[in-house]
Amino acid sequence: MANYHRVSFWDKKAYCLILCFLCWLRFSELVKEMDRVITQGFVLIFLLQGVHSRTLRSESNTAESGQKVTVNTAGEQVVVDNGIIQLTFSNPAGLVTAIKYKGFDNVLNERTKNRVYWDIVWYEPGQVSQTDFLIGEKFKIISQTSEQVEISFSKTWDTSKRGSTIPLNVDKRYIIRRGVSGVYMYGVVERLKSWPTVTMDQTRIVYKLNATKFDYMAVDDHRQNLMPLEADRNLTDGSAAPLEYKEAVRMVKPKNKLFKGQVDDKYLYSMESKDNRLHGWLASEQRVGFWIITASNEFRTCGPVKQELTSHTGPTLLSMFTSTHYAGKEINTTYASGEPWKKMFGPVFVYLNSAPSPDLMWTDAKRQLAAEVKSWPYEFVKSEDYPLRQQRGTVQGQLSVKDSFKSKSKLNEEIAFVGLALPGEVGSWQAETKGYQFWTQADKTGTFTIANVRPGTYNLFAWVAGHIGDYKYEREITITPGKEINVGPLVYEPPRSGPTLWEIGVPDRSAAEFNIPDPDPALITKLYANHPNAPEDRFRQYGLWDRYSAVYPKEDVTFTVGVSDYKKDWFFAHLNRKTGGKKLQATTWKIVFNLKEVSQNGNYTLRMALAAANTADILVEVNKPPSTKPMFRTGMVGRDNAIARHGIHGLYRLFNIGVQTNLLKVGDNTIYLTQNRVTSIFAGVMYDYLRLEGPSGAKQ
Ligand SMILES: *[C@@H]1O[C@H](CO)[C@@H](O)[C@H](O)[C@H]1NC(C)=O
Ligand SMILES: *[C@@H]1O[C@H](CO)[C@@H](O)[C@H](O)[C@H]1NC(C)=O
Ligand SMILES: *[C@@H]1O[C@H](CO)[C@@H](O)[C@H](O)[C@H]1NC(C)=O
Ligand SMILES: *[C@@H]1O[C@H](CO)[C@@H](O)[C@H](O)[C@H]1NC(C)=O
Repeated sequence: MANYHRVSFWDKKAYCLILCFLCWLRFSELVKEMDRVITQGFVLIFLLQGVHSRTLRSESNTAESGQKVTVNTAGEQVVVDNGIIQLTFSNPAGLVTAIKYKGFDNVLNERTKNRVYWDIVWYEPGQVSQTDFLIGEKFKIISQTSEQVEISFSKTWDTSKRGSTIPLNVDKRYIIRRGVSGVYMYGVVERLKSWPTVTMDQTRIVYKLNATKFDYMAVDDHRQNLMPLEADRNLTDGSAAPLEYKEAVRMVKPKNKLFKGQVDDKYLYSMESKDNRLHGWLASEQRVGFWIITASNEFRTCGPVKQELTSHTGPTLLSMFTSTHYAGKEINTTYASGEPWKKMFGPVFVYLNSAPSPDLMWTDAKRQLAAEVKSWPYEFVKSEDYPLRQQRGTVQGQLSVKDSFKSKSKLNEEIAFVGLALPGEVGSWQAETKGYQFWTQADKTGTFTIANVRPGTYNLFAWVAGHIGDYKYEREITITPGKEINVGPLVYEPPRSGPTLWEIGVPDRSAAEFNIPDPDPALITKLYANHPNAPEDRFRQYGLWDRYSAVYPKEDVTFTVGVSDYKKDWFFAHLNRKTGGKKLQATTWKIVFNLKEVSQNGNYTLRMALAAANTADILVEVNKPPSTKPMFRTGMVGRDNAIARHGIHGLYRLFNIGVQTNLLKVGDNTIYLTQNRVTSIFAGVMYDYLRLEGPSGAKQ
């Protein structure tokens, strides 16, 4: 430790100064023999850096050493300390009120009472929604040794509380371990069978940090930056100007000029569950990092590509467990009276570290993430609702794809996601919010292992980027402790009725491959502008929906098969056009394609896969503009809001549309797609993929 403090003086600035000095010596050519000295200087710097990273490593790998964990329950507080980190909890409410670490008496924001708290947004049928903060009523030490302390803040529900608090029993748990620079948090919620019907829209933990000290945010390798202040978002004092929805603002008079003219919006930092494992904030001056590490997705809902919030201006961090973000009310968690439920959310790990630079803190946090993933399921959790490794099961198998108009593939470049979720229809996992889900990515041969599955009954689902549709294994799978199941070779036959006549895009449940326009220059988030490492982040800019009217002021998209390129000529979202002021107009896109012959042996099929939909209604017609009675219409579809929230996908939908032979002709044909609901600038769809198939006898 002492060593660490000595070395920490050598931060980046110091290295730079020394380097400059040495270079200057060289240039001045004062002393040729100085070369030797200079070389020694460089060597010295390397050595210091080496010592440095070693101290960093040893600091976080000393689980067996360090001070004993102590608990102090004086008055209305509980204080748990392991010598590295000290946590203060309100008793019995169970909010974390202070985290003492390194130079900080409290890394949390002392201007607010709610610093680290749980909440659930809920309502009974017919009520307006309200927020329950899961305030504890009873404190208990679950286990206490010199190695580890687990504490609980719980509350129980009874009908006398009906209407005012959420009908759930709640147990919030915190684990502090010897030598570990952080705290594990989880919560178990339970409802009894007879309790009233309730809907829960959002379940999460919120963390609020000291706003004057935490200034830098990192959510992945390239999405990292200095951040604006909460005060820079203030509309009342003119620091910011409002934008199209309340979460997004344009900073006009930020404290740091760097952000002037930029957009701030918490949805800029969303991530898919499969990637949402580490995010956090740094206090760059104090060189302290605060990280949320989520070692497993088992308690998250709606599968591996559900998008969620991470960290944002505040400084705020979130552990999102359930929400309707990027999906809509279709994925609410509704329990009818008569339906019991029990679920554990977490454990998540709040990790604190310290290093001379943001880069080193990020690297160390990633190392810690890898360590947490490796030790999942944690053997130290003292809850009957948390099965340990030997109480869990494993499912193995091999998935291949048989597409009758392509050869059977061993996946190759395709990515197969295979998962277990509560039993349900094909594809139901993406709206499933009540159970645990276990997902993995198969390797190139389609081989997969789903490890550490909690006992229970599941369906095995899969989907493969590169193919439309969803796979479901016909038999239910029951996991008992220690059980290992090999389901053997599985074959997914995606929907197909004939050869591909043409296709637009890639069937991967995302619209990222289409034309993503440049943002309005007045509404740029610089983090995503011309970022050389992350062209895939282009879609995250604010306001791209408004670019449709700029790129297509009069004519709509016309895509000519064989001539057009979907990367350039297919706009990423099908929206209304602005025709001055707030006036909007329905838009009709055309796909023009040539047929040398029209087969009479069966009908054609249009596959229309949507990556997102928001209060849209798509009308489909062939060789004439859609009328009120089109050949096909989706009807009002979707409330995923992915267009407004710069998500490039929401829920996946596949429409299989029969096209009668007599509608087609030899020569040029046109398919018309009209977005017919003119209700808002956010109304529209993002297509994932379109394909026209001939009848099975038609020529490819
Ligand atoms: C942030 O930390 C500084 C230094 O520890 C302290 O003076 C300040 O009051 C803290 N601010 C908040 C909002 O917690
Ligand atoms: C915004 O500015 C107004 C006017 O200065 C002030 O009263 C208010 O407290 C500020 N709001 C926030 C959230 O800082
Ligand atoms: C919640 O979801 C269920 C299932 O999708 C649906 O039937 C119900 O209408 C939804 N509830 C609300 C309030 O939207
Ligand atoms: C084509 O579709 C129409 C309408 O669904 C149906 O009546 C007809 O039998 C189909 N033709 C063939 C050859 O399958």
